[in-house]
Amino acid sequence: MTTSRSSAPSFTVISGAQVQRALLGREKQIVDLVDSAYRLHSAGDSVNPPSYFLRFPDRPSSRIIALPASLGGQFGVDGIKWISSFPDNVARGIPRASAVLILNDPGTGYPFACVESSVVSAARTAAFATLAAEWLSPRLRPRRIGFFGAGFIARYVHTFLTAREWPIDEIGVHDVSAESAAGFRGYLERSGQTARVTVHDSAERLVRSADLVVFATVAGRPHLNDPSWFSHNPLVLHVSLRDLAPEILLTSANVVDDVEHCLKADTSPHLAEQLIGNRSFLTGTLAEVMAGRVPVPTGRPVVFSPFGLGVLDLAVGKFVYDEVVRSGEPHIVDDFFHELRRYG
Ligand SMILES: NC(=O)c1ccc[n+]([C@@H]2O[C@H](COP(=O)([O-])OP(=O)(O)OC[C@H]3O[C@@H](n4cnc5c(N)ncnc54)[C@H](O)[C@@H]3O)[C@@H](O)[C@H]2O)c1
Repeated sequence: MTTSRSSAPSFTVISGAQVQRALLGREKQIVDLVDSAYRLHSAGDSVNPPSYFLRFPDRPSSRIIALPASLGGQFGVDGIKWISSFPDNVARGIPRASAVLILNDPGTGYPFACVESSVVSAARTAAFATLAAEWLSPRLRPRRIGFFGAGFIARYVHTFLTAREWPIDEIGVHDVSAESAAGFRGYLERSGQTARVTVHDSAERLVRSADLVVFATVAGRPHLNDPSWFSHNPLVLHVSLRDLAPEILLTSANVVDDVEHCLKADTSPHLAEQLIGNRSFLTGTLAEVMAGRVPVPTGRPVVFSPFGLGVLDLAVGKFVYDEVVRSGEPHIVDDFFHELRRYG
């Protein structure tokens, strides 16, 4: 991020290995960082236009999303995340999602870093889910956790909850893929956690046996329709956004990250709005809960649906950049910006 008159702007490439080193063991701090970024966004010190979805007629299950954003406060950074979701990758033995994050200098507009961002994205998502879980269970932390969809994001959510010392007695796992469920179970065993782990073949049993249910599937449309499965009033982190039929949302309290973002792109809250023609089913945003303006409802399931904001990627990406520079190991690409004299 060099902008003085005498030196050319520099450009740094940050690999996934560097990202992982920068974030390792920093989960608590990342939750606090995401908390600050989200509060700045809610206070209006950000620009976060709608995400742009690139879809392909010949590859309907795949997409690439652009999330441009600008974040003020102590972050002072602009940029864009460009994240692909190709679910068939999993069968090829590589992760579904891949991403880069470009960080731009707000003074000159020059991009100053390209950060591998599948890990940044997973970390900011898990940090935000953990933040929501903390705020949406103000009295008693649910100790029986169910993971519905046992992939990359589920693993990160578990890591972040554990790092924030969430008390876990039981972990349920349900996945349409037995291989994913077994893989996740293996990760849990290796992680040294002590909760009892049960893999449920039945989706209903998973939901009914958990007081905190984390949805992290790749479902494109709702596949759970029966509100009675949620009659024990769990806290639901609906990270994958499209699992629950509108009928379930309409009998729940609904908290979102950002109303305009979340009620788009056929998310379950978007379908609920289309079904009843208004937004009266929304309880509020997480920011309103955090500011004490909206109490957490009781006597109903609480469903948190986070669309995922580009400002959070910027916050975590800038943290990673600063760490990599501090550690003295940035890969600066020489002469990346080369034609810098106006008249040659
Ligand atoms: N809201 C956000 O900010 C945000 C951020 C990142 C990822 N996500 C979403 O999280 C989801 C999970 O991402 P991931 O990287 O872990 O994907 P992944 O491919 O690693 O894992 C998804 C798992 O869900 C399972 N699955 C698919 N359909 C299912 C169903 N109907 N019931 C049970 N299991 C099912 C798959 O078998 C797979 O194991 C994606 O939908 C992604 O878009 C949301």
